[in-house]
Amino acid sequence: MKNFWKNDELRLQCKKVLALSTLAFTVAIATMAQEVPQVTNVMNRETLSLNGDWHYIVDVQEEGYYDYRMNPMRWGFFSNAKPQRPEDLIEYDFDAAPTMRVPGDWNTQDERLFFYEGTVWLQRYFEAPNPLPRGGGRALLYFGAVNYDCHVYVNGKKAGHHVGGFTPFNFDVTDLLHEGKNFVIVKVDNKRSASAVPTQIFDWWNYGGITRDVMLLSLPATYIEDYSLQLNALPGADGKNSVIDFTMKLNRPAAGESVTVTFPELKIRRTFTTDENGRIQEKLSTKKSKLELWSPAHPRRYQVLLECGGETLSDSIGFRTIETRGKQILLNGEPVFLKGICLHEEKPNGGGRANSAEDARTLLTWAKELGCNFVRLAHYPHNEYMVRVAERMGLMVWSEIPCYWTIDWKNDATYQNAQRQLTDMIARDRNRANVIIWSIANETPHSPERDAFLGRLARYARTLDSTRLISMAMEVTGASNYVNRLQDNMHELVDVVSFNQYVGWYRDVNDAPKMRWEIPYNKPVIISEFGGGAKYGLHGAKNQRWTEEFQENLYRENLAMLDKIDGLAGTTPWILKDFRSPRRVLTGIQDYYNMKGLVSDKGERKKAWYVLHEWYEKK
Ligand code: GCU
Repeated sequence: MKNFWKNDELRLQCKKVLALSTLAFTVAIATMAQEVPQVTNVMNRETLSLNGDWHYIVDVQEEGYYDYRMNPMRWGFFSNAKPQRPEDLIEYDFDAAPTMRVPGDWNTQDERLFFYEGTVWLQRYFEAPNPLPRGGGRALLYFGAVNYDCHVYVNGKKAGHHVGGFTPFNFDVTDLLHEGKNFVIVKVDNKRSASAVPTQIFDWWNYGGITRDVMLLSLPATYIEDYSLQLNALPGADGKNSVIDFTMKLNRPAAGESVTVTFPELKIRRTFTTDENGRIQEKLSTKKSKLELWSPAHPRRYQVLLECGGETLSDSIGFRTIETRGKQILLNGEPVFLKGICLHEEKPNGGGRANSAEDARTLLTWAKELGCNFVRLAHYPHNEYMVRVAERMGLMVWSEIPCYWTIDWKNDATYQNAQRQLTDMIARDRNRANVIIWSIANETPHSPERDAFLGRLARYARTLDSTRLISMAMEVTGASNYVNRLQDNMHELVDVVSFNQYVGWYRDVNDAPKMRWEIPYNKPVIISEFGGGAKYGLHGAKNQRWTEEFQENLYRENLAMLDKIDGLAGTTPWILKDFRSPRRVLTGIQDYYNMKGLVSDKGERKKAWYVLHEWYEKK
């Protein structure tokens, strides 16, 4: 060995070989698989569902990823290794491991994992799509969401890494697939951290796992990656000659690609060709066709067909305008009062993360029955079914990224994470007419760093979508005993000033009649949260905390107080349904549930439900 290190020539040769092999390895991996920009409208593309039973291994010390010196291993659980000889040592076996449903959180599928925060590996086999995308076709592995940090492997090779628990992502795995039986393995880690988004404390359950749909997309070599169809301006009285802004981008900068857009009912059929960046930016006119606008009362949508590169992509598009004028929010040019409610993304009956169209129909029907025309999907982007079902039902949507409470404002990686989640939220839902507000934060403490972070996010959101309103849930500062003043530097960056207040819960309900609210901004105001807890079926005097009567009285007093707020354009009381939270530990009452729901976790209506319902009926 000593002679080796003395031989400069030999040592130099070895260094060259090592460098070349590292480069080759890197290039090989880079060309084999990579994350590609989110492909939108996946539900209407050619897909192979990978939902179903996946084997899982709970890996508390990440034995399947690091060696005993904490170095990432090249032969971890992701290789799905099997003993080749009787004496071989393989200390894991997915085939022998239990299974859980995907999509689905692990907390509600294995009682040992109810509180678990850490790594779980999930694995399944699948038959490659027939025929495999060849001739330049692409196969993308799509996840609706994985909470929170995941590494994805196909047939033992790395497909990619994603951080963020509530937005979709996809990896190009074309070169990792082979005919017949393949396998996918996902390392999911839902540990919280100070630099994450959300940060390490939040008032909802930290459901871990592959919490939304998994699909394999088969796409042509050149495909429509993203597009937008928005009404340019209010149509004339006859609804004719309306202008629709159409933008679209391909997955690659291919010039001269032909794209045909058809709205059969509007007698629109236009063909365009892409520019050198693979993009189109055009205007469509409805000409003689009368365009019916989308609204809660008339959630009208039009089928559109987009043809490109052998793929025909369909969608249903609603057209409407949303804007503000002074303290009013105008939908299709008319003032609208947002009769809302907040929701978490949680199934009823303790079922964990909501993730299906059926879940969406249940929760959103409850909101409609309450008299709502608006839902605040708190505090993170909900699954795509929630937004699409709400659009069909005529429910406007406030959609939000989880910049919640004490985010690590000084950390650029944290900002990049928040910006990525904002980008993916907007990309996925930019064509949903019912989404009217993008929210960038909830109850964040004031500081120059927070203002810089959120100001940058707000400006960035407008570069992605100038057609919707920007807001965030602020906090009021108690100017004096009964005067609450909204003072937030972010008022300049938002279109709607929204704030949470908890008179009656975090302060005496008897103060409500004396409260004055000073909101010195000529913008619409939304009370984005108010409410209080009650255990369904617990009754007593109205000053008895946790009784239905307490919550009922709190709602009566708050609604009377809201009626006095100048420029109130809407409210989203906290919250539709009782939901799980690790912060709510009062035995016999909360038992790890936040009880501020107007309905119990089973959908049982509390007395306060009727107070709000009556108030909305009169609005
Ligand atoms: C806050 C917060 C919610 C929380 C609620 C509560 O306003 O935004 O996420 O659940 O208060 O205290 O119940």
